[in-house]
Amino acid sequence: MCGIVGYVGRQQPNGKPLEVVMEGLRRLEYRGYDSAGVALVGRDGVLVTAKKAGKLVNLADELDARPLPGATAAIGHTRWATHGAPTDVNAHPHVAGKIAVIHNGIVENFAVLKAELLADGATFLSETDTEVVAQLLARAYARLGDLSEAMCAVAQRLEGTFTLLAVHADVPDVVVGARHDSPLVVGLGDGENFMGSDVAAFIAHTRRALELGQDQVVTLTPDSVTVTDFTGAPAQGRAFTVDWDAAAAEKGGYRSFMDKEIDDQPQAVADTLLGRTGLDGALVLDEVRIDESLLRSIDKIVVIACGTAAYAGHVAKYAIEHWCRIPVEVELAHEFRYRDPVVNEKTLVVAISQSGETMDTLMAVRHAREQGSKVLAIVNTHGSTIPRESDAVLYTHAGPEIAVASTKAFLSQITAAYLLGLYLAQLRGNKFPDEIAELLGQLRAMPAKIQTVLDGAEHVREVARSMRDTPSVLFLGRHVGFPVALEGALKLKELAYIHAEGFAAGELKHGPIALIEEGQAVFVIVPSPRGRDSLHSKVISNIQEIRARGAHTLVIAEEGDDAVLPFADEVFRIPQCPTLMSPLLAVVPLQLFACELATAKGLDVDQPRNLAKSVTVE
Ligand code: F6R
Repeated sequence: MCGIVGYVGRQQPNGKPLEVVMEGLRRLEYRGYDSAGVALVGRDGVLVTAKKAGKLVNLADELDARPLPGATAAIGHTRWATHGAPTDVNAHPHVAGKIAVIHNGIVENFAVLKAELLADGATFLSETDTEVVAQLLARAYARLGDLSEAMCAVAQRLEGTFTLLAVHADVPDVVVGARHDSPLVVGLGDGENFMGSDVAAFIAHTRRALELGQDQVVTLTPDSVTVTDFTGAPAQGRAFTVDWDAAAAEKGGYRSFMDKEIDDQPQAVADTLLGRTGLDGALVLDEVRIDESLLRSIDKIVVIACGTAAYAGHVAKYAIEHWCRIPVEVELAHEFRYRDPVVNEKTLVVAISQSGETMDTLMAVRHAREQGSKVLAIVNTHGSTIPRESDAVLYTHAGPEIAVASTKAFLSQITAAYLLGLYLAQLRGNKFPDEIAELLGQLRAMPAKIQTVLDGAEHVREVARSMRDTPSVLFLGRHVGFPVALEGALKLKELAYIHAEGFAAGELKHGPIALIEEGQAVFVIVPSPRGRDSLHSKVISNIQEIRARGAHTLVIAEEGDDAVLPFADEVFRIPQCPTLMSPLLAVVPLQLFACELATAKGLDVDQPRNLAKSVTVE
């Protein structure tokens, strides 16, 4: 959801705070892009703001036309609207007296608080819950004379989720933040300090960071960082070093972040595999700090995740059940806790999330732990909330994923979940060491094979361009190809805004085949002819059935699988590989297709409409 940046510095040129904040917003724009704004405070005790509806470029144009004075402290915000339409007035910051506030999240009791403030004579310019917070803070500051204490007092009154940053004209060397169920990370500089929704906000300036705990207030001056809880009692952050640099968060010559991130995938998978084996070749997952005897005794795994991350979990289910003989359920995180799931201390819950901040997944993690389950998180973003609230974490090493639609995170999530499956198989004795070594070898061969698929990208792109006016595309897959089909459909929906649906190929005859008419485009992910039983021939029959009814068939099949040729209008080849490894290849043409078709339609593939990268509200 919204992106937040804060900066305070000692010996900076006066223009630096605005520069830092605008650059941070540029890197965070993927979090929300329906309006943006900044507030600056200078030593002369002047508070100024600028805010604009629309993408960040509108704010940048406004700042060019109406330059702001120099400053010592600055806060900035890029919004994904919850309360109030995305207009200039509703954009953050919101000002009350000498205070400016920005906010990520939703204040659920804002109506009650607003009524109280109205009765006290307050007037409001916007429809937002955030302006209520600004008014409360102004009153608390007037009473307490200290911005941090005022923030503590207000934070205790708010219900819902929030990250708040505030500046006050009377204290130009101070930025105060607070967080409750919403992300905030501190960047540690030299004579300057930073805050951001994630480390991308300040990665160009420092890689030293401080992870904050739940319900904490943090006060930055150029030379100090003070953390307390909401009562003002001292608290500690956890220092960490960000393991990627600013270049990783740049487009690097690509026309979009999504194009770059699709191309990053061989590296993302290789990095996720790196350093996971000991000297004897056995799999070592140091981060899995859950007691081994407990892992041996679990009788069920439940994967909780949303969207693409859930499809990664769905792929992993096939592998983990096959390797470990443990039942695996995959549950959308937002459904999980509302249906009274049967989980207990014998259940291992695996939470998968790129951002580590998805509120639905976080709430499901909390619910699982309340039921006595251990939670292992598979997460990409260091310093995020889900790993901190889980019993163990397995980081994917995909690097920053900036495009809103997930690509390299998906492949690295499957990779990490497979590592977990192999680790459990090793621990529980389901596989012999040489079998584990062979499967690890298969995984290690995947980056080169993914590269081979990428080398053939132009064919997919050509076909995608030729189909730019297609109104609807269906996706069929079977076994591990089924979640890949679902992911292919999701990518096309969110990037190209066209109807797209994924089905299990075996389900076709139970209903979806009624959708097939002359010219209906259908992707079919064909299982390996060397794979399970007769799956290959069953899917070939499916292609025949839909082709006979007029479908335009786009077939993803292994090199050398000539059985598909008579029934395919287009064939996209992937290298031969074991069945369980194939999702890491088969999804790549689907990502390329969606990205190219959306680009051909003139759409912004990095920032699709109505979406935000990190969904921090329920
Ligand atoms: C789709 C997409 C979303 C996310 C989902 C979970 O391209 O990006 O479906 O996968 O919102 O996000 P994380 O992984 O951050 O929990």
